[in-house]
Amino acid sequence: MQSPAFAQGFPHPITRTAANHRVKLNDLKMDPSSPVLPATILEQTASRLGCSPADKKLAFHLDEEDELKHLRECFCIPKVKDLPPTDLTLVNGEESCIYFAGNSLGLQPKRVKTYLDEELDKWARTGVHGHFNGQRPWALADECIVDLMADLVGAQRHEVALMNGLTVNLHLQMLSFFKPTPRRYKILLEARAFPSDHYAVESQLRLHGLDVEKCMLMMQPREGCFVGFDLAHAVGNVDLHLHDWGVDFACWCSYKYLNSGAGGLAAAYIHEKHSQSIKPALIGWWGHDFKTRFLMENKLQLSEGINGFRLSNPPILLVCALQASLEVFGQTTMKALRRKSILLTGYLEYLIKHYYSEDKTNPEKPFVKIITPSRVEERGCQLTLSFSLPIKSVFKELEKRGVACDMREPNALRVAPVPLYNSFHDVHRFIEILGSAITSSKQTANNTALSGSY
Ligand SMILES: Cc1ncc(COP(=O)(O)O)c(C=O)c1O
Repeated sequence: MQSPAFAQGFPHPITRTAANHRVKLNDLKMDPSSPVLPATILEQTASRLGCSPADKKLAFHLDEEDELKHLRECFCIPKVKDLPPTDLTLVNGEESCIYFAGNSLGLQPKRVKTYLDEELDKWARTGVHGHFNGQRPWALADECIVDLMADLVGAQRHEVALMNGLTVNLHLQMLSFFKPTPRRYKILLEARAFPSDHYAVESQLRLHGLDVEKCMLMMQPREGCFVGFDLAHAVGNVDLHLHDWGVDFACWCSYKYLNSGAGGLAAAYIHEKHSQSIKPALIGWWGHDFKTRFLMENKLQLSEGINGFRLSNPPILLVCALQASLEVFGQTTMKALRRKSILLTGYLEYLIKHYYSEDKTNPEKPFVKIITPSRVEERGCQLTLSFSLPIKSVFKELEKRGVACDMREPNALRVAPVPLYNSFHDVHRFIEILGSAITSSKQTANNTALSGSY
């Protein structure tokens, strides 16, 4: 394995807590708001091991100590040789890839196949009887796993429904929460929100005949208005307490950190304080109370709260995939995952700074900037990086070497070590590979500059 390019020797450790405060790895068992920084834990652990924090030995030690390491076994980790952009002249195809793309699409839990097979088999053997029979009666399949989802986001069971896709849920919820009056008719939106959120808000305003320019504000909400959240990048990534925080409404997809597969079943939440006052704008038969749903009398008995928003019967095959993943989450807690996540991402941050900080005395040295906030309370597992070299080239070189991550134009690389299935060794390998990707990109940039000067 290549060593990282531009390694400048081990920099002096900066200890950010009281000088004599000895920190044990288990100190991360404390709250994520702990004043002990991951850097301190890494430096002190390395010092106990008698090595530099950049030494592979530290990665192996942290993996050994990791109480969640067994969860990696619950997932299919792709091999380097199976990733289409891999260049097998550069890397060993038999190794597991470095999968840092869980912020985009989570890995497949091994149980997904088993559960899908069970339902396909039931369908083949019993046809329509599958609706109310077996371990996962199709008509109730979403309800069989809703507790697991509610636990993950700190909500009551009756505040969460598994349905549709994220954007569909956002529209359904906005149709009910956004009732413009002559005095209150504006929507406040985070600036540069994800396109789907932006378009949903725009189209909802147009639906009410409102002027988008005047009514869509990118600023802080003022007290008294409803606040809804798109939790696509938060669920399964950070500890959420939607109920206790009094969040009005939220929706999220499940294919990122919840590993339910592309286009997987989304979820929506409405706080129980709105269960009587907020009603769905669009109704389907699945919003009708279960007790009388199948009488088909067409006299609506609406389920309370978010359950009244369900339109169609649940997609069993999507439920299977989601169940397999939520059960893995069920083997641990978000607190424990977050504890590991803070150290894992802190380790990545530490090594990036160690090797690739800008050196004003050496302007030739390529550098990497971390755009993501450095305060752990302000970030999840993902770091967004920008480079002094062309991003497309660095991304391509990483992909050739078996790294899965994603790139955002014009100059951002997103890397997400996921505590469920990534290891400290993954982070260390990534840093090594980043070294050779940077060296190659620099060479390409130099060659281009040279040929351009002729
Ligand atoms: C923040 C955010 N919102 C919405 C979406 C997409 O929503 P949908 O699942 O409806 O396509 C994504 C997808 O990456 C996202 O990151």
